[in-house]
Amino acid sequence: MVTAENEMKPDATEPNQNQFNFTAGDQIYNWAVGKGMKVRGHTLAWHSQQPTWMQNMTGTTLRNAMINHINGVMAHYKGKLYAWDVVNEAFNEDGSRRQSNLQGTGNDWIEVAFKTARAADPNVKLCHNDYNIENATYAKTVAVLNMIKDFKSRGVPIDCVGLQTHFTGGSSLPSNFQTTLQNFANAGVDVALTEVDVTNASTTQYAGLTQACVNVARCVGITVWGVRHSDSWPSNESPLLFDGSGNKKAAYTSVLNVLNSAPTNPTPTPAGTPTPTPAVTSTPNSATTLSINSGGSASGSFTADQYFSGGTAYTNTVDESPIISNVPPAAIFQSERYGAFTYTIPNRTAGSSQTVTLHFDETYVTAAGQRVFNVTINGTTALSSFDI
Ligand code: XIL
Repeated sequence: MVTAENEMKPDATEPNQNQFNFTAGDQIYNWAVGKGMKVRGHTLAWHSQQPTWMQNMTGTTLRNAMINHINGVMAHYKGKLYAWDVVNEAFNEDGSRRQSNLQGTGNDWIEVAFKTARAADPNVKLCHNDYNIENATYAKTVAVLNMIKDFKSRGVPIDCVGLQTHFTGGSSLPSNFQTTLQNFANAGVDVALTEVDVTNASTTQYAGLTQACVNVARCVGITVWGVRHSDSWPSNESPLLFDGSGNKKAAYTSVLNVLNSAPTNPTPTPAGTPTPTPAVTSTPNSATTLSINSGGSASGSFTADQYFSGGTAYTNTVDESPIISNVPPAAIFQSERYGAFTYTIPNRTAGSSQTVTLHFDETYVTAAGQRVFNVTINGTTALSSFDI
């Protein structure tokens, strides 16, 4: 997985207001995808690296510009990225909100950013990304955790938290790091280490942070903030896994050893007593298969028709058992829902992948072109002018 270090930031993607530029971002995206890698988007709303035109904006003008920026960038990358750092670095060390032009637009700017992002691309994970949130008892860590719990309790969309994990510039691996990761996971979000670097590439710290992630089931990834020391933003601290010539360092081996000794299907040991929020406990496994017999009653593994709005149920008398032998059972084709209708399937995890299988049968019209329809999934057209 790859993160663009600068190329998807606001100053890069919207250099002039409402004139978007994805040349550099796409170069990285295409390179990564061509090598089978996923891409993390970084970042949409941040006090730093704003284009000049945005820097002195305030109030409603800025709020609207932020929303327009999120919509513009996310539309371009819709369906292509693994995650977006929707908001970056929004908190002070003492846990209060960072004073910035964005914060000046109102305390709700973060949730507005997340809601905008969810609507712009419902299939990408939406993260809050921040630094110095690696120590479980640190005020800033607690503040970000509380924001996530608040969002979850109020239904504000958020799927993940990125801990930048810059153990440079005087910071180092705290002993409670795994607890921090587990605390975030228990609040109902995925956890990722998004910008790792470690002063002088300490092998114990690199191994320790990797082990902590391996031990927490919802820790989904570790990203190192650069490849060679020479590319690092604090290059004077030689904080990466490869030296200036691209040779592997001892830290590389220390990370690899932890990854190689990790169980393939890790059974995590929670570092603390999990305290899931109600939103988590009431969310059944979104991988559960649900089969619905449209317009009919329960049959085999199919439930009676439910979760629909609109359309009309209809039952036919065509016995299709001679031509449909196994799954799904022929009986489900003896009922249907026709007209314009929607199924709203509950208890799916926002941002997770879902497979939708539609079973069609034509028992009424008799020629092509007589029943032509569209299928839209989460607002995206899946079948257009479809004629079975
Ligand atoms: C840094 C880049 O590495 C530098 O090249 C750039 O000049 C400044 O930004 N937190 C973040 C990253 O979220 O985007 C920052 O990246 C490092 C700190």
